[in-house]
Amino acid sequence: MYKLIAFDAYGTLFDVYSMGQLAEDLFPGQGQALALMWRDRQIEYTRLVTMSDPNPEGSKHYLPFWELTIRSLRYVCKRMSLELTPQNEKRLMEQYAKLTSFEDSLAVLKRIKERGISTAILSNGSREMLSTVVESNGLQPFLDKVVTIEDVRLFKTAPQAYELLLKAFPVKKTDILFVSSNAWDALAAKWFGFDVFWVNRLGHPFEEIGEVPNFEGDSLSKVLELI
Ligand code: LAC
Repeated sequence: MYKLIAFDAYGTLFDVYSMGQLAEDLFPGQGQALALMWRDRQIEYTRLVTMSDPNPEGSKHYLPFWELTIRSLRYVCKRMSLELTPQNEKRLMEQYAKLTSFEDSLAVLKRIKERGISTAILSNGSREMLSTVVESNGLQPFLDKVVTIEDVRLFKTAPQAYELLLKAFPVKKTDILFVSSNAWDALAAKWFGFDVFWVNRLGHPFEEIGEVPNFEGDSLSKVLELI
């Protein structure tokens, strides 16, 4: 039995692709493409920052995830030749700040807590953006801790990022189940030594490197079958 179940935030508990709808309203015909490219570029920036200075004291190129999210939005709009007015940037970022959680996120966290297992978020997100999105979705009472890589200034998939869970909770690696919908995150968490549940909502293939996850399901609720 696991002592801690830790969740990735964006894409796992909170629906990032819902941004596509607002993007579609602002840029008809381009919303889905924009949302996908935005997400990819945002993660690309986290990797650039981390790999270019993987210093255990933190990357000297570090910028908070919130800032990387804005910069990647600006880049993608330029790349797609879309005019991003200050008002539209504000609207998109305000929605990002208050992304909706998936319909089962709250119930899953609640059930895990009821079984006496600790719950956490481990996210690339900056502290402030995480507390806003957690609170706006009412998840606060069902999370023991919200752990952010802001403390190490190295983004996932740096091992120092996953290690934060071991610093935040008095548990061993093998006591932790890490849940992510991002295959790259699931892969790296497994490399780090956690058992992993990959939430594969879209029926995608798993990556062609690394070990397959310990568990896979098409919704967060499937995590409950393990406890
Ligand atoms: C996170 C992103 C990477 O919450 O999904 O860490």
